[in-house]
Amino acid sequence: MTAIDNLRSDYDATPYVSNSFPQSAPGTLAAVAHLFGLQPPDVGHARVLEIGCAAGGNIVPFAAAHPHAEVVGIDLSEVQIEAGRARVQALGIENLRLIAGDIAAMDVAALGAFDYVIAHGVYSWVPDDVAEALLATMRAGLTADGVGYLSYNVYPGWKAKEVVRDAMMLAAGASQVPEDKVRHARGMADFLSEVAPAGGVLAAIMAEWQAADEGFGDSYLLHDELETFNTPRYFYEVLARANAHGLAYLGEARPEVMIPANHGPKVAEYLAANGVTAQVLVEQYLDFVTNRTFRQSLFVPAERAPQIDYSPTAERLRRLHVAALVPPIDGPVRLDDSRQEFRQADGATLFTNAPAIKAALDVLTERWPWTLSHDELVVATRQRLLDAGTQPSPDLPAHIDDLTRVLVMQGQAHYRLDPVRPETAGTAFRIDESSRRAAELTGGFDDAATFNRWHETVPLEPLDRQLLPLLDGSRDEAQLIEALLAAGAGTGEVVTEWVRTLGQRLAELKLG
Ligand SMILES: C[S@@+](CC[C@H](N)C(=O)[O-])C[C@H]1O[C@@H](n2cnc3c(N)ncnc32)[C@H](O)[C@@H]1O
Repeated sequence: MTAIDNLRSDYDATPYVSNSFPQSAPGTLAAVAHLFGLQPPDVGHARVLEIGCAAGGNIVPFAAAHPHAEVVGIDLSEVQIEAGRARVQALGIENLRLIAGDIAAMDVAALGAFDYVIAHGVYSWVPDDVAEALLATMRAGLTADGVGYLSYNVYPGWKAKEVVRDAMMLAAGASQVPEDKVRHARGMADFLSEVAPAGGVLAAIMAEWQAADEGFGDSYLLHDELETFNTPRYFYEVLARANAHGLAYLGEARPEVMIPANHGPKVAEYLAANGVTAQVLVEQYLDFVTNRTFRQSLFVPAERAPQIDYSPTAERLRRLHVAALVPPIDGPVRLDDSRQEFRQADGATLFTNAPAIKAALDVLTERWPWTLSHDELVVATRQRLLDAGTQPSPDLPAHIDDLTRVLVMQGQAHYRLDPVRPETAGTAFRIDESSRRAAELTGGFDDAATFNRWHETVPLEPLDRQLLPLLDGSRDEAQLIEALLAAGAGTGEVVTEWVRTLGQRLAELKLG
């Protein structure tokens, strides 16, 4: 068997859990490209290709939410592609085509050009010639304004992780049975954790590994940690390879990680004092600072490189539709000059004395998880100030610009170039049909989940596995309770409370 045959049979035997990754959503790629000065293609009518799509879990939410887009997924594993096709059919999605094949041996050009090409979790886990073919396909497949997404394992963080991988591979030996491989590997990791001398390097490595392992399922362990191919590279090495294929680095899917100040004032000061200003070099330094293990980088055709500008202008920020959950930590918002603290997405706090900023944060939080345009935010903030008897300053739009810049560049907001709202927003007891059907389809399984308009996978609690499939708008609160009781979902008290708090839960899950 060739290396590719081995890989195929690994994924056929133990399919990968196929989830969605919001950082790779075309809407994310378009917003980041726009922030950095490019003119990305319209996402709603885009042609999108995902390479190594497994069972399509990452492109299904996109295809469902963008019926005028045309989506293609390719994967080596026929078993995964078949599972994906069944899912696509059950969800009634018509603009997504799944193809089984080896990216290095296919005529991808025959599929036409794509506005967005995504390869998540593939590049580091394939033989070198396939990794090269992946970059070549990305370059050849992208339209002139297209954007590619590539995620990959990086050094220096993987230096330490490789110690654990090597030890686990040793213990798993030649075992061909996936369950045995996992058992031996976990046994080795537990053994090393137990005997590692306290305070030593191994103890630190194992503590970090064990903390991460709590979230690893067997399929993740087998494919991400124990896969025959797992080749981390330094960031600059990947860039050199991409450049050789005519691809230019645009930025990270989460731009906040690119900014030295977001890693602490000392980091920013050191880089400035030592003349480290070129973006790529700055980021290579940051990889050392953060002991980075994984990157999610965006690439564009090399001809676009001269247009990339890493300082988003106010004009660019104003084009964004922004959502943010930034509630005050000490009671209702006070629209006076008193200092007030607000909790951000990462748990850190932001404080301000400015009534306009407080009002804007209140408006955003009330609207969460859906977006507001710059103009909508200005109008709603102005109204909130007037209602509180405060005359808004003529500089209000500029203050909103400053706030948007902080929220976006610190990674505290969700943002897109188009508004994000489900079709059913504001409709009681109804969620988007594709999300409802996904809940229905997976409801009977342990890993029941659906997806939302932010391209997120939403795991479902046991009661929601029964409730969400019922949310087609045909039932009122009493009928939902009755249906759950008839299905034996719980006691009257539990079921009633669950349905009563549905609205709040749907907002938390970003489903309604
Ligand atoms: C680690 S999984 C990641 C799956 C998915 N992108 C995700 O992140 O959930 C790697 C995927 O790449 C696929 N793959 C590996 N080699 C490939 C090749 N030569 N051509 C196409 N797909 C390939 C595998 O079948 C597998 O589904």
